[in-house]
Amino acid sequence: MKATAVAHANIALVKYWGKRDEALILPEAGSLSLALDRLQTTTTVELGGDRDSFSLDGRDAAPEEFLRARALLNAAGISQRARIESRNDFPTGAGLASSASGFAALAKAATAAAGLALDDLALSRLARLGSGSAARSVPGGWAVWEDEAARQVFPESHWDVRMVVALCAQGRKKTGSRDGMRATRETSPYHEAWIAQCQQDLPRALRYLGAKDLGLLGALAERNALRMHADALAADPPLIYWEPATIGCLKALQQLREDSIQAFATIDAGPHVVALCEARDAALVGKALGTVGGVRDVLICAPAGGARLL
Ligand code: PMV
Repeated sequence: MKATAVAHANIALVKYWGKRDEALILPEAGSLSLALDRLQTTTTVELGGDRDSFSLDGRDAAPEEFLRARALLNAAGISQRARIESRNDFPTGAGLASSASGFAALAKAATAAAGLALDDLALSRLARLGSGSAARSVPGGWAVWEDEAARQVFPESHWDVRMVVALCAQGRKKTGSRDGMRATRETSPYHEAWIAQCQQDLPRALRYLGAKDLGLLGALAERNALRMHADALAADPPLIYWEPATIGCLKALQQLREDSIQAFATIDAGPHVVALCEARDAALVGKALGTVGGVRDVLICAPAGGARLL
């Protein structure tokens, strides 16, 4: 009646920003991500107590997170009360995809505690109900999510790249991705163009990934992220996820490319910049981002696999 699971956050190179079905959490366009080793959540679920509880990094989870966790358990047919204890080894709720690793680890641990043996597709479908991007953290590695479940398209061993995460602010962001993407979809005049862009980007990105072409994949990912933010900035009221350090990092990466170091940015619904580069360049890229004003810390991450039981 008790199980512990680990899952890694993932960072998308072709982003998910818009739902075609709000209730079922189905995306308007497909997305592609890589799971990252140092962005990890560990979750223990114990079933059979007299009430539900959910602690996140040692504190009671917010009511909304609590409800989402209960909805996920109900969808798995788990009616017993659950004691959930979850820890992130990176900043929670700051745009570092902690909901992705969190709900993937929860789906894995809760179903194991209940004695249910679900395959990765069924687990991914379940994790999606907590947060769309969590669907991609179940298979891990390089994952594509287009419909009810995400699937791994290449294992983490496919390509030894690095993602260098530059932490550009502290604390939680004001508008979570669920509300942010809904507001964008409803009010941004650019939203249709953004979705059409993603539909073009995904098959191209998969070709570049198959060929391990960092220049082409990186440039596509950077454009894709900037266009997602252009869409969000065009919402009414506008969604400004960036901090001054975010721009500083974008400029630092441009400068690195002028100096012939291949490093490309992506940015989720938050201020942090994540740079995709070759493993051999990661230390240099980390150093360049670490000296940008306002950057608080730099984490060099390698590809990781899917959700697993401990
Ligand atoms: O799954 P959510 O609701 O946390 O949304 C994730 C949205 C982005 O991180 C901005 C993009 C993505 O594909 O992960």
